[in-house]
Amino acid sequence: MLLSARALPIGSLLLALGCVRPVSPPDTAHRDWAVAGGDAESRKFSPLDQINRSNVARLEVAWTYRTGDASAEDRSMIQCNPIVVGTVLFCTSPGLKAFAVRADTGAELWSFDPFEHQKRENHVNRGLVYWADGADRRIFLTAGPWMYALDAVTGRPITGFGRDGRVDLREGLGRDPAALQVSATSPGVIFRDLLIQGTRVPEGETGSPGHIRAYDVRTGAIRWTFRTIPAPGEYGYETWAADSWKHSGGANAWAGLSLDRERGIVYAPTGSASFDFDGSDRPGANLFANSVLALNAATGERIWHYQVVHHDIWDYDLPAPPTLVSIRRNGKRVDALAQITKTGHVFVLHRETGQPVFPVEERPMPRSELEGEQSWPTQPVPLLPQPFARQSFGEADVTDISAAARASVLTQLRQARAGALYTPLGLQEMVVVPGMNGGGEWGGAAFDPATGVLYVNGNELPYLTRMWEKDAPIGSSTGLGEATFVAQCSGCHGRERQGDGERVPSLRDVAKRLSAGQVRDVIDHGRGFMPAFARLPEIEKRAVVAYLMGQDEPQPAATGSSPARRPGESAYRFGGYKRFLDAEGYPAIKPPWGTLNAIDLNTGEYLWRVTLGEHPELTARGIPPTGATNYGGPVVTAGGLVFIAATADAKIRAFDKATGEEVWEAPLPTAGYATPSTYMVDGRQYVVVAAGGGRVGQKSGDSYVAFALPR
Ligand code: HEC
Repeated sequence: MLLSARALPIGSLLLALGCVRPVSPPDTAHRDWAVAGGDAESRKFSPLDQINRSNVARLEVAWTYRTGDASAEDRSMIQCNPIVVGTVLFCTSPGLKAFAVRADTGAELWSFDPFEHQKRENHVNRGLVYWADGADRRIFLTAGPWMYALDAVTGRPITGFGRDGRVDLREGLGRDPAALQVSATSPGVIFRDLLIQGTRVPEGETGSPGHIRAYDVRTGAIRWTFRTIPAPGEYGYETWAADSWKHSGGANAWAGLSLDRERGIVYAPTGSASFDFDGSDRPGANLFANSVLALNAATGERIWHYQVVHHDIWDYDLPAPPTLVSIRRNGKRVDALAQITKTGHVFVLHRETGQPVFPVEERPMPRSELEGEQSWPTQPVPLLPQPFARQSFGEADVTDISAAARASVLTQLRQARAGALYTPLGLQEMVVVPGMNGGGEWGGAAFDPATGVLYVNGNELPYLTRMWEKDAPIGSSTGLGEATFVAQCSGCHGRERQGDGERVPSLRDVAKRLSAGQVRDVIDHGRGFMPAFARLPEIEKRAVVAYLMGQDEPQPAATGSSPARRPGESAYRFGGYKRFLDAEGYPAIKPPWGTLNAIDLNTGEYLWRVTLGEHPELTARGIPPTGATNYGGPVVTAGGLVFIAATADAKIRAFDKATGEEVWEAPLPTAGYATPSTYMVDGRQYVVVAAGGGRVGQKSGDSYVAFALPR
């Protein structure tokens, strides 16, 4: 297959990349941001101080680059943290193209479309990987099930890598690749000539294992594999059912990795095992799901692990790579890592041993009432730092933005169970708090090495959901279409087809938008975050299409009339990712709904905590700024500033890192659900962020916007 890049002004490119250096020079004219997240330690820190407290108010737009492929229909997003090497900025688009643009002007140098010659796949991308050895300079892009090696100068695939410039991430997992769904939404990390890479896999009942692999950067060969679902004889095997290693999925490091280059240790944060909400077929703690893994970066051998959630049944994936930090305890320097969680905790662990730096209590937790579910009796809860998101929800926590909002939430709450951290889902609707989207999210934290302060943004967004028995009668109609829908689709689309209000669309009036053929196409091929259901029996496919279109269902044959339970399939279905909202659609919990926190990791104490973002229409009603749901992380600089976009109000802001005072804000074309990067070219410091919108009511966009001081 021929994969080509768009027209190339090669001369100007070589000129631009003339400044490419594997390591930044000590001069002050250039400063790279060569790794997504700022550095392999995931610190999101920059020593640049040209932009500082005294002049930040004068920042202006230096350039805007538009990728040209936002899709309103797909609710496309950009979550990419661009990397900058020399004078070239590398980034991705909503359609997963890779781009090189001039970091000082935003002029495009090349673009590469991985789907030029094949069916487009739809998922987010959080960044690219750069590697160089002399004149051999490569950009690694993950799209669909593939990882591409591109020539950093031309954007063309490097044919000697894998097959025709790419490797298939489904291969080498010890199972039939054709039966797996594997992609990678976060960039891997380079250690010597290895690209260590995690993956994204489905979270439903069809399992793909989340093993972590190291690829040879030159050839694409797999040099080591760490099996996050251990096989017989491997450490942790007994923490699952005997044959989980053959069919279970998840325990994947979807959020990226961090590297201690000197120690040669790679740290991987893993997600929950699938199926996310029912662990009855995987009794045990389920190592190495929901764990921080410390692996020998050269060999993949486990050095230590720390499991943050035992036997997860809440989808509390570790959402971001740990931030590698150095702090002072009792007058001594301690090299540690800070792992944020969806539950709003920060686990601070010694880098070499995994031992907690601050006390962590293993606390008894309520047990599951679901048949067959052996929920874990205890969970670890850090005593310090205190959580940055609320841990329970009762009447005292109900929103107070208006009497009507309060009343609508109280009505819902009185029919539900008031939840608290680690209360298992049952057959009654329950408030899930912290919500399944965090707490902390994939934006991760930033760390200032000069002060030992960690900056982390948090969400306060409870969910309201429950489990359903699959075999329970489904209302008046017990047709095959509805039964199939409830068994296969309702986990995401909701039992009442209501969707989740953002990523997962409502299917209530799908017949008005799509033809039966189009619905069938989505079922056969999947779309975006939705996996394909190609292997569903034909009769069930036709029945579910008919059910959604409001048509007569095909009559099932006399035998096999009900959807048969597949191996590993749950007896329960999940009621859907339903956010707990008031009648107007605002979070059911008292503001703040979004916060930015500064935690002194030397002491575990908060330095400050401020509201992040606002809903201008609520401010106009006289309600103090409520904060806003936010996705994307902060960046901290030696200029005394914390930059963060992330909020649904489509702004980028700067905060005084010492006090939390908001010192600057600027509008973006749409919400910047991404982490900014900062770098210097020819003596000018830039702050750039993707504005891709596409969730929490924001339109999809295709811009990267760079800010700098006036010349
Ligand atoms: C893992 C979650 C998940 C499951 C399970 C799932 N879907 Fe989806 N579905 C989605 C998401 C997310 C989208 C939006 C995809 C996009 O456009 O990016 C979607 C989109 C769709 C659409 C297109 C809707 C539109 O308005 O364009 C249809 C139709 C659909 N799903 C039907 C189904 C059916 C039928 C099933 C069960 C056989 C199912 N889905 C199972 C997550 C899921």
